Amino acid sequence: RESLAEHARRSGRYFGMAVKSRLLREDKGYRAAVARESNILVQEYELKRGTTEPKPGQYDFSGADQIIDFAQAHGMRARGHTLVWYAANPPWLEPAVMQAGPKDQRRLMTSYIDTAMRRYAGRITEWDVVNETLEPNEGRADGMRAESLWMKAMGEQYIDLAFRRARKVDPAATLYLADFGLEHDSPRCERRRTAMLKLLDRLMSRNVPLDAIGIQGHLKPYKEPFNQRQFADFLHTLSGYGLKLAVTEFDIADRGGPPSPEKRDREVASFAKAFLDVALDNPAMQSVLCWGVSDKDSWLSKYPEYKWPDGQLSRGLPLDGNMARKPFWDAIASAF
Ligand code: XIL
Repeated sequence: RESLAEHARRSGRYFGMAVKSRLLREDKGYRAAVARESNILVQEYELKRGTTEPKPGQYDFSGADQIIDFAQAHGMRARGHTLVWYAANPPWLEPAVMQAGPKDQRRLMTSYIDTAMRRYAGRITEWDVVNETLEPNEGRADGMRAESLWMKAMGEQYIDLAFRRARKVDPAATLYLADFGLEHDSPRCERRRTAMLKLLDRLMSRNVPLDAIGIQGHLKPYKEPFNQRQFADFLHTLSGYGLKLAVTEFDIADRGGPPSPEKRDREVASFAKAFLDVALDNPAMQSVLCWGVSDKDSWLSKYPEYKWPDGQLSRGLPLDGNMARKPFWDAIASAF
């Protein structure tokens, strides 16, 4: 049968996966699945600054290079994840930022934008420039993440600076602002959607050069309900700003679902379909990327919040632990 990449291509879109260079090197089945199913790739962690800049100004892009080379060799696009984030930073960064004066604080942020974007100019065509800026639970009235080192150092201006710098360094790249918790019909997501729209109003009023919104798409159907109409309206509001859209980290936490894997697979698939039908109904939607390749390598099978306490694999990705397609796969194929 046609691959997910072929299904995506026929609808003028891209389908892809977050990958790890070690598995591309060592696991033939993994490599073959990625090559077959994807026409866009992203690094699961290998462009996060905690990986690439272990010491100030000393870079290691070896893992990211392998992923980008693989993408190029297979005629795929690549996105970059991520330039400015509160998490996954090297331990030296936050203290350095907190001790620096305003000019050096800015430089400590833009130096990574410069280095990573220049290195991959023309090969990485879209970037998560700023990741996860919202956290209404931290109590700020505007819903911004108060505990981000960048927020503490510079206030919201860090977002403006990041996008302006990114535009300058690689004017051809598509610049994304990405966040999670925008999908469900829950008070948590409602607060986050509101905060996102208010932030966009401010960014637009300051002419911040932002091209697209990344909807991460880490779904939790057994914790929070989903409402197609509500999510469609939200995406419509975003695209109404003239922004492109992508689902950048799609997966479904199945913890709390029925114990029977067959039954769970069917439920997870129908949930995926309900979500993607809405996402792909919006003409601004460019691509869908899953956060991982198979259940075996998924963070859902390891992360404390999502993993099953009895050690079984989470089944929240299109391929199972043996790289076999499952109902989740069919859901994606039919949604394109
Ligand atoms: C996750 C990775 O999948 C894990 O392996 C790592 O331990 C933590 O980060 N939102 C993001 C991603 O933007 O970078 C995160 O990736 C998942 C949530």
